[in-house]
Amino acid sequence: MNKEEKYNIIMTQLSSLLSGESDVIAKMANMVAVIHHEMKFWWTGFYIVKSIDTITEEEELILGPFQGPVACMHIKKGRGVCGKSWEKASTIVVENVNDFPGHIACSSESKSEIVVPIKKDGKVIAVLDIDSEFYENFDNIDKSNLEKIVALL
Ligand code: SME
Repeated sequence: MNKEEKYNIIMTQLSSLLSGESDVIAKMANMVAVIHHEMKFWWTGFYIVKSIDTITEEEELILGPFQGPVACMHIKKGRGVCGKSWEKASTIVVENVNDFPGHIACSSESKSEIVVPIKKDGKVIAVLDIDSEFYENFDNIDKSNLEKIVALL
């Protein structure tokens, strides 16, 4: 089965699994489980934009539902691939994490990465972060399919 076919299966499965569910954390949790196990990625998870200070309302990305090894829990705006994707409000594909300035290495096994922002009312509310233990694992097929999948949230 090629990548496109696997994403089609994921889309069909998640469309029915998540339909009627309104809790976003529950939806994120099952979404990462399905993507991670179908695609056999190294790490698949969400970071959620949250206010970390009630007075300044400063925001950070905080670790959300994920599958894979333990990961860093806080990421500031503009930091790493996740923080950059949040700042730019666009998907970032990294073919080789060693070539990405400021990449945050949660695991030395991670070789390539894709981060897809989730937007609500024009504002980024979370990012989907996926790591692979292979270089150049992500391309436009992953980008377009993952952008469609996160729209199910
Ligand atoms: N590599 C990410 C950090 C999160 S972990 O990969 C799970 C980054 O540079 O933002």
